[in-house]
Amino acid sequence: MQATQTRVARTFRKTTETFAAGAKTLAQRYFVSPEIFAREQANIFSKQWVLVGHQSQIAQAGDYFTADVARESLIIVRDKRGEIHGFYNVCRHRGSRLVENRNGHVSAIQCPYHAWTYGLDGPLLGAPHMDDVPGFDKADYPLHPVHLALWEGFIFVNLADSLTPLDKWLAPLTGKFFRWNLPALRSAKRIAYDVQANWKLIFENYSECYHCAGVHPELSKISPSDSAENDLTEGPFLGGFMRIASDKSLTMSSKTCALPVGDFGNEDFRFVFYYSIFPNMLLSLHPDYVMVHQLEAQSPERTLLLCDWFFHPEAFKRSDFDPDDAIKFWDMVNRQDWHVCELSQQGISSRAYKPGPYSARESIPAAWDDYYLRQMS
Ligand code: FES
Ligand SMILES: [Fe+2]
Repeated sequence: MQATQTRVARTFRKTTETFAAGAKTLAQRYFVSPEIFAREQANIFSKQWVLVGHQSQIAQAGDYFTADVARESLIIVRDKRGEIHGFYNVCRHRGSRLVENRNGHVSAIQCPYHAWTYGLDGPLLGAPHMDDVPGFDKADYPLHPVHLALWEGFIFVNLADSLTPLDKWLAPLTGKFFRWNLPALRSAKRIAYDVQANWKLIFENYSECYHCAGVHPELSKISPSDSAENDLTEGPFLGGFMRIASDKSLTMSSKTCALPVGDFGNEDFRFVFYYSIFPNMLLSLHPDYVMVHQLEAQSPERTLLLCDWFFHPEAFKRSDFDPDDAIKFWDMVNRQDWHVCELSQQGISSRAYKPGPYSARESIPAAWDDYYLRQMS
């Protein structure tokens, strides 16, 4: 155990936190104003790398899913050479939405309106009767691409014209999560939560365990709420780790539910790591599974959350594999969190609301707010 703790401490070195005494929650307008929401879409979601999914969701050529980013519908698809592409979900003829389903499998992308057909890598392949149009050349009408890149198996897109490459943007996290085998993992379950709260309340809630003893009694029994230590304390990537009680796992039964996701050797690896990756990813790394929340801000008062539970691919073949044990546990904890986020939204919408003081245990939400405000200015 001592060796493990030393290794964890080395890899995830606790940072001396500079908690600004006097830090307060954001002003009401940041949670209710349509103008602020529109500015977030322009300044943040249209300019930064945004998580849209994991490569395992589109394992075969022709597999696709759609994603909403900055109020744009995008098609994410794997082509016949195995490459993943992102396109605006907009036909080059008269602009029709091309794909309506959230996911599926196609051999080509065909518009439902006049049947223009596009290859999985974007070119226009067929346009009925357009040969009669003088000067028409199919080569002029490929699908509009978006910037797309992978990090640890996760697919990110960026709608900006000029941008920092994804690997450079995520450079502070390089190598940090290699032990969890993230590119190889597969999701056993996705639950979509429609939460009646501003997207920032979800981040702020995720970033502290000040609320855990009261809101999450079951979680606190297995992972003490006062065991949190942070190693990323400023900027777009924030978080740290908490301890898991000996011989326990964060599951309904408190027992491990799957093969370890990574090679932790014979170590007694009793930690859970929680990181927020600005602006829409929450990454929770357990010894036996990895949970990822992907946020889609719908309006100032509404957020869609896609929560996936990832496991080692070998785990699926084992008779003792019991993913529901973890899924049910976090579904319960998630709903406890969404409830207090919705209560926050309701109270913050009141004329009586004024920004309140953060505690020293809320240094990460305060740092998150700070980074957010810098993106908005
Ligand atoms: S709008 Fe797509 S083929 Fe006409
Ligand atoms: Fe919580």
